[in-house]
Amino acid sequence: MNARLVVAGLCGCVLFACAARAEDAAAPEADKTAKPAALPADPPYLAKPKGSVTYTKHIAPILFNNCMSCHRNGEIAPFPLGSYRDAQKRDVQIAMIVKDRLMPPWKAEPGYGEFHDARRLTNEQIGLIQQWVDDGSPEGDAKDLPEAPKFTEGWQLGPPDLVLKMPEAYTVAAEGRDVYRCFVIPIPIDEDKYVSAVEYRPGNRKVVHHALLFLDSLGTARKKDEADPLPGFASFGGPGFLPTGGLGGWAPGALPRPLPEGTAKAIKKGSDLVLQLHFHPTGKEESELSQVGIYYSKKPPTRTLAALTMRGRKIDIPAGEKAYTIKESTTTTIDMEAIGIAPHAHLLAKDIKCNAYLPDGSVTPLIWIKDWDFNWQGQYMYEKPVKLPKGTKVEVEFTYDNSTGNPRNPSNPPKRVTWGEQTTDEMALCWVQVMPEHETDALALKAAAGRSIFGGGEGTNLRDLIKEAVKKFDEDGDGKLNDEERAKLREFYNKTRGQK
Ligand code: HEC
Repeated sequence: MNARLVVAGLCGCVLFACAARAEDAAAPEADKTAKPAALPADPPYLAKPKGSVTYTKHIAPILFNNCMSCHRNGEIAPFPLGSYRDAQKRDVQIAMIVKDRLMPPWKAEPGYGEFHDARRLTNEQIGLIQQWVDDGSPEGDAKDLPEAPKFTEGWQLGPPDLVLKMPEAYTVAAEGRDVYRCFVIPIPIDEDKYVSAVEYRPGNRKVVHHALLFLDSLGTARKKDEADPLPGFASFGGPGFLPTGGLGGWAPGALPRPLPEGTAKAIKKGSDLVLQLHFHPTGKEESELSQVGIYYSKKPPTRTLAALTMRGRKIDIPAGEKAYTIKESTTTTIDMEAIGIAPHAHLLAKDIKCNAYLPDGSVTPLIWIKDWDFNWQGQYMYEKPVKLPKGTKVEVEFTYDNSTGNPRNPSNPPKRVTWGEQTTDEMALCWVQVMPEHETDALALKAAAGRSIFGGGEGTNLRDLIKEAVKKFDEDGDGKLNDEERAKLREFYNKTRGQK
């Protein structure tokens, strides 16, 4: 399979509604020897009598439930897997690809965080496919065939309260590089709204590889759109402006999921939705017109959402370096619960691992991705909230391969790589979406949010933070902030601090 196995991907900044960096406290002595939780038991496959494994009885249920969300007509995968013929035509290829666990695509290493909608076949399922192919891929008895899965073609969560549509279709050329673009959609609301769920629907699933949803209440994205003659504006890593919020993301095969009970994201009146789309040319010209369904929360939130932001800016990867690592960490100052995690890096990253070192010396793995792929990024939501008691050190480690041996290296010969927004730059970012364990600590969490926006890693000094803030808001690029730019920075800071 080529490195283009690209389908999904959630990149960019501010995946979560707001970001908070827990106040840095003296980090406890982390117990580096502690091991992540043991894997749930997955017994090895025991061979069945020869010829007894059939498509209708054993294989169809596996393919229906684990493959067809993408492998059906009009979806992102290149061929359907809904019938015996479909499966039998590619039997050997399927056997190989599931054995190597390349399909179904799922980047998070099992045992390092238990996530909703995890895609992983069991040893039993993989064994059944191997044996079926070894025995000559028999079809079996038609009466054993389960009913084909029904996929809801409309809105998965039912009719939305508000449907936002791209103002005009965007045309993706037949050939060429992948396209990353932001589209600005005004949100027609006359008061601030709380949102409990958001559903993204691509118009053309063959060409859209992933979507990220940002909010902009400052009109910055609108200006960028106006300056670009085509619909929207170009942007690769981040959205190319500093968003005032985020509404999550979408990747093929992902199911929309309402926020946890009691939580909601806020949309300020006058905000624009900024949709960042990643397109992969299909060989013929394609047109895309996406829609976003907004579901209002019936009640104001009773639980506070925020995100711990860990980001490394001091990236400096020498050309040819095979394993360049950087670590970022933050220490919680109140009892928190993690409900999701979203790591972000560009093309050179290989391995991303995040652990929580609890004050009692135990380690809770938060995620481990051993084969990072920019195009298969995701926002991973935990099945159960993960406790991060006060004094927990959350640490993420990024490893990059800047050698010619890395097929994803955008530069050949390799070049020195530093932090930046371009394809050829790198990033080291990880958001952990959190709620305070006790709602009485909500303000402490929110207060940290404003500081976190410009927060560098440990050791970043105040002057660097101010420099960065100036850069972000210096729209005319004269190196200083004029009155209008200063007002925007102040508004942004106030808003992200959770003040009204
Ligand atoms: C989340 C979406 C998704 C799911 C689920 C999924 N696939 Fe795929 N699959 C893809 C995409 C996209 C490609 C195209 C890869 C590429 O561009 O090389 C693909 C390609 C393949 C290929 C061809 C690989 C190659 O080398 O060209 C096989 C075989 C395959 N899938 C089998 C499966 C099987 C079997 C399952 C279920 C056990 C499955 N897939 C589940 C998205 C998916």
